[in-house]
Amino acid sequence: MKKKIKRGDAIFPAKGKLGVLVPGIGAVSTTLFAGVFAMRKGLHKPIGSVTQTGKIRLGLRTNNRIEAIKDLLPLANLEDIVFGGWDIFEDSAYDSATHAKVLDTADIEAVADEMKQIKPMKAVFDRQYVKRLDGPHVKKASSKMVLAELLMKDVENFKQEHNIDRVVICWAGSTEAYQADTDVHQTLEAFEQGLKSSNKDITPSQIYAYAALSMKIPYINGAPHITTDCPALLELAEKNQVAVCGKDFKTGQTLLKTIIAPGIQSRLLGVNGWFSTNILGNRDGEVLDDADSFKSKEVTKLGVLDSILKPDVYPDLYKDLYHKVRINYYPPRGDNKESWDNIDIFGWMGYPMQIKVNFLCRDSILAAPVMLDLILFADLSQRAGMTGILEWLSFFFKSPMVGEGLYPENDLFAQRDKMENVIRYLINEEPIHHTGLDYYYDVT
Ligand SMILES: NC(=O)c1ccc[n+]([C@@H]2O[C@H](COP(=O)([O-])OP(=O)(O)OC[C@H]3O[C@@H](n4cnc5c(N)ncnc54)[C@H](O)[C@@H]3O)[C@@H](O)[C@H]2O)c1
Repeated sequence: MKKKIKRGDAIFPAKGKLGVLVPGIGAVSTTLFAGVFAMRKGLHKPIGSVTQTGKIRLGLRTNNRIEAIKDLLPLANLEDIVFGGWDIFEDSAYDSATHAKVLDTADIEAVADEMKQIKPMKAVFDRQYVKRLDGPHVKKASSKMVLAELLMKDVENFKQEHNIDRVVICWAGSTEAYQADTDVHQTLEAFEQGLKSSNKDITPSQIYAYAALSMKIPYINGAPHITTDCPALLELAEKNQVAVCGKDFKTGQTLLKTIIAPGIQSRLLGVNGWFSTNILGNRDGEVLDDADSFKSKEVTKLGVLDSILKPDVYPDLYKDLYHKVRINYYPPRGDNKESWDNIDIFGWMGYPMQIKVNFLCRDSILAAPVMLDLILFADLSQRAGMTGILEWLSFFFKSPMVGEGLYPENDLFAQRDKMENVIRYLINEEPIHHTGLDYYYDVT
């Protein structure tokens, strides 16, 4: 039987404090924390954030009703967020932000007191899954199940210490090596047995996710590896009625790809080649320099074009598409990634054309508002009874999780329409279908 969603006043209000716990206090997390602290002090505006800056139209264009999303939905307030997390290094968020070099010293110093207070708890970590990293701040236990229980204890202590009402967990740790589903991932029973016997195929991120879902805490996966997208953890999410979403924050080159490709496809232009290459020099880049971790990223990066261009539906336009993605670790560039795309397209009578894109972006500057929006929307979804896979948040992901039998929607504009219509649905407004016929004809 399908679940019912709470709408309007029936959504549980966002009262009390929202605890945000992140496995991985690195570049993205610390950029989010510093930004939120700065915004609380009125030092910066929340640029790039749908929940804080976004507005949507309600009703007909002639009504002139364009309202702020945060005034329409009962979202948690930035004032009510308390950050915490786990990392394999003992560095406080202040030290980690300094090390990441995403933000200027002045921006870190302006929120130094708040950032110094965030000290990571000991991580659940296994080098088998992140070969390029090692750190001393790691839990030791007799089994993976005991590790999960220790994480649950951390969450409980954090809630007590800060008088927290609700919690969301968002993975912003390093990308783990690609791990396909095996027998242990097929049922919750097999998974729990696997935790007890420390089955090697259960990844650290899956131990965090198991802990979160067991405590009815929404779990967001900001990295490309597989975590909750396995039958066992989805079974737990269903059993406990918890929201899950992922994977891989949509930033940088893939963000642009999902902006450009829908335009090319809408005009029915052909594509026979799309070559994408990147240089980046942060810790994320170093981790992705390992072939097994890159495989997780490659899978999420490669998938987007097929679902937008649909070669099976338009074989004349896209059946020969050659899509290649490269990430090159190049330390001098730090977090300031540079990407190049060469797109070979063809038009009327098969005549070839080329598009070149050179994006000089800042990865964590693009990722931080995405992470904030996901946290606030996942918390809202949980209070609205929207549990299980949150496909409506596809807008924020490179490789959105979807229900069984569905293909993901990767077109950014289709994703935006989906998200906005869900917001309208939640506040008992009509969805907007964009036919525009109402202004000219009687379509009742
Ligand atoms: N920066 C972006 O724009 C962007 C975009 C999409 C996805 N991502 C993903 O987000 C994640 C974080 O990116 P980042 O740039 O902040 O990386 P980062 O290397 O700066 O930070 C990751 C942190 O996670 C820690 N860590 C690793 N394994 C851990 C574990 N098992 N438990 C707890 N902590 C652990 C590391 O010590 C590090 O401090 C990566 O997986 C990355 O692929 C980043």
